[in-house]
This record gives sequence, C-alpha cells and structure tokens, in this order.
Amino acid sequence: MAQSFETSTVHFGLDQETVNRSKTTPIYQTSVFSFKNLEELEAHYTGERAYLYTRMGNPNTDELGQAVAQLENAQAGVASSSGISAIMAGVLAVCKTGDHLIASEDVYGGTYHFLQNQLLDMGITVSFVDFSSPVEMEKAITEKTKLLFSESITNPFLRVEDLRAMVKLAQKHNLVTMIDNTFATPYLVQPIELGIDLVAHSATKYNGGHSDVTAGVMVGSSSLIEKVRQKVVSWGANVSPFEAWLACRGIKTLALRMEKQCDNAAKLADYFRQHPAVEKVFFPKGVSEKGNGAMVTIELQPDVDMNRFFSSLTWIKIVPSLAGVETTVSYPIATSHRSLPEEQQKKLGITEHVVRISVGIEKFDDIKLAFENALEFAKK
Ligand SMILES: Cc1ncc(COP(=O)(O)O)c(C=O)c1O
Repeated sequence: MAQSFETSTVHFGLDQETVNRSKTTPIYQTSVFSFKNLEELEAHYTGERAYLYTRMGNPNTDELGQAVAQLENAQAGVASSSGISAIMAGVLAVCKTGDHLIASEDVYGGTYHFLQNQLLDMGITVSFVDFSSPVEMEKAITEKTKLLFSESITNPFLRVEDLRAMVKLAQKHNLVTMIDNTFATPYLVQPIELGIDLVAHSATKYNGGHSDVTAGVMVGSSSLIEKVRQKVVSWGANVSPFEAWLACRGIKTLALRMEKQCDNAAKLADYFRQHPAVEKVFFPKGVSEKGNGAMVTIELQPDVDMNRFFSSLTWIKIVPSLAGVETTVSYPIATSHRSLPEEQQKKLGITEHVVRISVGIEKFDDIKLAFENALEFAKK
C-alpha cells in the first residue's frame, strides 16, 4: 500500500541489515533502536542484542570506549560526555556518602572544582595533597579513604606522577587508584600496566586531536567499568554518537600527531631555556622513550608585558584548552586554574607570568619565530 506523504517523510532509509562492509563505522545517529517483535525485545534483556536506547549504549560510543581500552591495555572502557563526566562517574563508582578521597593538589582546575565543591554535597570529603611526597599522601589516609586520584602529567606544571609509588601505597591500604592520562595519552604512558585501577581521559584533547569534540573515557577492569557505566547511564552523562565517531576518527592519527607534537615541544622547551625573557621552563623528563609530551609551560620574566605578549602571537591563538593540531597558548590564572583559591594558586606558582603552550604539528621554525617575535615585542 502506498504510504501517505506524511508517513513517507519519516519511514525511509536503507535496510540496515543489508547495508554492511562499510570501511568505517557508520554514525549511529539514533536515540533508540527498533525491534521487530517481542522476542527481539526480550533478546536485549538476555544479552543477545546489544542496543536498546542510546543513553544506555550505542555502537559509536562503545567503539570509543573499546578503542581507548585497547590502547591502554585495559579490559574495558566506557565513553562519556566529557572528561569531567568520566571523572565524576569514576569517583561515584568508587565513593559513597561518608567516604573520603585523596587527590593531588595540582590537578586541572575543573577537576579541582568538581572534587572540592560538588562531592561535598554528596557527603564525600576530599583532601588535596602534594603527591610528590609519599609521606604526605600516607598521612592523609583515614579509615574512610577509598580512592587516590592524580594526573600522569599534571596541569599546568607538567609534573610526572610516580605511578608505581601511588600503586604501592594504594595496595598497602586497600585503596582504588585513578589516573587522568589526558596529557600523556596511552602513546606515552599506560597506567594500567603499572597497576593503576582506573584511567580517565578528556577525549576532548589528544584523542580527538582537532578541537572539535567534547568527550570523555574511563577504562579499567570489566567489573569496575561496569560500575562506571551504570553511573554514566543513570546520570545521563553519555556522549553523542557523532562526537564519539569524531573522537574515534581522531584516535587513528594519535600516534602520528603525538610523535610530531612531542618532537616540536622538546625543541621549543630547549629554545625557551636559552631565552632571556623566560624565567622558568616546565617540561617533563623521562616520561617515555617516545617523548615527554607536547605541552610546555613557561614563566616569563616580570618585565614582560603579558597583554603585549598574548596579542602579538599572530597565528598562535589564545585557547583555554589544548591538544589540537595547531599550536595554542593558554593563561592558567585566567582560565583553567581560575577557580582555585588564591592561596592555592600562589602555593602552586600559578602567577600572572605563567603561560601554558599546547604545541602543534606545524613546522618547528614557524612556531619558534612566532614566539621569538612576541617575546621581543612584549619586553617592557
Ligand atoms: C587534564 C584534564 N583532565 C580533564 C579535563 C576535563 O575535560 P573536559 O573538558 O572534556 O570535561 C581537562 C580539561 O581541560 C584536562 O585538562
């Protein structure tokens, strides 16, 4: 029977069962999946059919979780709407009301804000500790402590966390460990291999790699990830299929991008070390044989006019994020670490002269020249 125009406007499309062998995974831009009969519907609940409703699971979001799990050598992974939601789901999968967690004091400002302000409402308390001191970490452990949280390379001063020491301490006190591996990526560091339980990513950053995605991923053991997945589903923190698809596409060039970006970053750190306008250079050592990351943080001399510096960087944009293919600069005191209490900013050294650079894939000489010109122009 011919369908009415109105009906035809909604009932069209390829028979999905006959469309296959697509080279890339199609985007399953659907909020829900259909069923031919009640047996098929039932098959979902007995585990024979994977997908029912996108908030609960979708091929693209699963692909992202699995891709990162594979790169991190983890049993399982779950994608979420952002790096922060991955961290939220991970924390809530481990900690309940009355529990306590210990976090490194130099984590990303948004994470600090979440841990400091949101968890308290749920009756979960947090101690921020200097993770470079195992003694301080151990002192902070109470009988309510459940979780140790840090970043493999910290933000913005790029301190390399001693993951083995963290695991040792956690095993002694029966704690879960969680690492945000956003800056290092599994190209450089694989925390699961060192015994870390949960690894979080802002896929918004290097996984996506092109500043066009907001997504997160948490990986770990199947049993822990199942708990994290329940939080993502129940709190509606799922990522959209399109964003997951973009992040997966980005991952395909992760190794190539990281190789070039790490190389450019090492050269840029060397260049800054001999520049008279640069007081301090923060660039990690010994992260991996493949490189030490693609972020460089500098503290400029007090006589550098910061407004002139930022506004004369020509093609290098001020971007309060990182990890795209383009070199960008950010100003932690005004953006990523703005929400930190002033005394915390002071303690960590986040001053008006600190600049965080996300190094891109451009030709190194062009990057160097852009900074050279800006530093020259910004001298008072
Ligand atoms: C290290 C780190 N972790 C987590 C996040 C949060 O990621 P998202 O913005 O995807 O929530 C960021 C954001 O800048 C970050 O730098």
